[in-house]
Amino acid sequence: MGLMAIEASGGINMGDRTYILGIESSCDETSCAVVADGGEVFSNVVASQVDLHAKYGGVVPEIASRAHIEAINSVIAEAIELASIPIDQLSAVAVANQPGLIGSLLIGLMAAKTLAWVHGLPLIGVNHIYAHAYSPAIDSEPIEYPALAMVASGGHTALYRCDSPIELELLGSTIDDAAGEAFDKVANILGLGYPGGPVIDKLARSGNPKAVDFPRSLLKGQSLDFSFSGLKTAVLYHVNGVPGARRKPSQPEVGLENLSESDIADIAASFQAAVVDVLKIKLRRAAKIAKPKSLVIGGGVSANSGLRQGAAELADALGCSLRLPALKYCQDNAAMIAGAGYHYLKAGLTAGLDLDARATVSR
Ligand code: KG4
Ligand code: ZN
Repeated sequence: MGLMAIEASGGINMGDRTYILGIESSCDETSCAVVADGGEVFSNVVASQVDLHAKYGGVVPEIASRAHIEAINSVIAEAIELASIPIDQLSAVAVANQPGLIGSLLIGLMAAKTLAWVHGLPLIGVNHIYAHAYSPAIDSEPIEYPALAMVASGGHTALYRCDSPIELELLGSTIDDAAGEAFDKVANILGLGYPGGPVIDKLARSGNPKAVDFPRSLLKGQSLDFSFSGLKTAVLYHVNGVPGARRKPSQPEVGLENLSESDIADIAASFQAAVVDVLKIKLRRAAKIAKPKSLVIGGGVSANSGLRQGAAELADALGCSLRLPALKYCQDNAAMIAGAGYHYLKAGLTAGLDLDARATVSR
């Protein structure tokens, strides 16, 4: 990865505040932020591409890379201007360099390298998932460690035991679809558009979560891995019928066109309840191993109202504090990259200009 240790005095002025410029471009948000001391946000500019991808029902990598190229310079310029921090006061440039869409990551990485080189600043490669697990500390109190963190987004669902913002041990992850991906695919099945999470969340509030008993896939034994593709298929069969199966005359017509608005709200609520149940069960299992002082939830799905409520109940039962990101830091953003980057810098984890982008992170 091209990590290179620096002297503690080499890049950090410990007496003053440490301002880090962060860049995020791993998926479909182009973002730049300036954050002081790992938490205080001076600016956080996010250019979302969601409208560009909506008609395809998901992120199209090639379109995402092109849109990042178009947006990145103005997003960086705006973040610097809004922060009103002179560039010579910055301590480092932090960039999400893994995991993500490779073409998208490369745009942010090139911009970060250019800024670091031109201004003689240390460069920091930040793991995007670690940054999500740090996001509750942005504009808020530091997280108490050890923490149990679950990051659930469109691309990832993973559980970590964290000893610090940069020491994370992977306990489990999805073996197929990510939780956010399941929300997006189910919204597609229900004709609700993209992204699916926010609209299912909203509909679920008026639906009956017990209307349909969708499966909770827990995998074998005490596994801490996740699987959501079976649940997605169960919703598909519930809506369209099981392929090849004969419908009894007593059964209602299948197909989206035969569902009322309240049927759809019931399916949304029942699906969401199944996802939240699985996430809670895995968190409870993982807590036995991690023995956390804090329960941390991050990533796009952490905006889900059912999950936020379920996590609050669980944290209460576990006797630990619940740390959720502010809603604006649930989605991809550069403030969390700059915030986590501060801890990389403190640990001397800076990178050379040969820093690579990586689509995946090994387990
Ligand atoms: O973290 P994020 O912005 O991007 C990735 O790194 O993937 O997460 C986006 C994902 C999408 O799948 C979206 O449907 C989901 O987060 N999401 C939600 C909610 N808001 C966004 N899922 C469930 N409930 C929500 N309220
Ligand atoms: Zn993300």
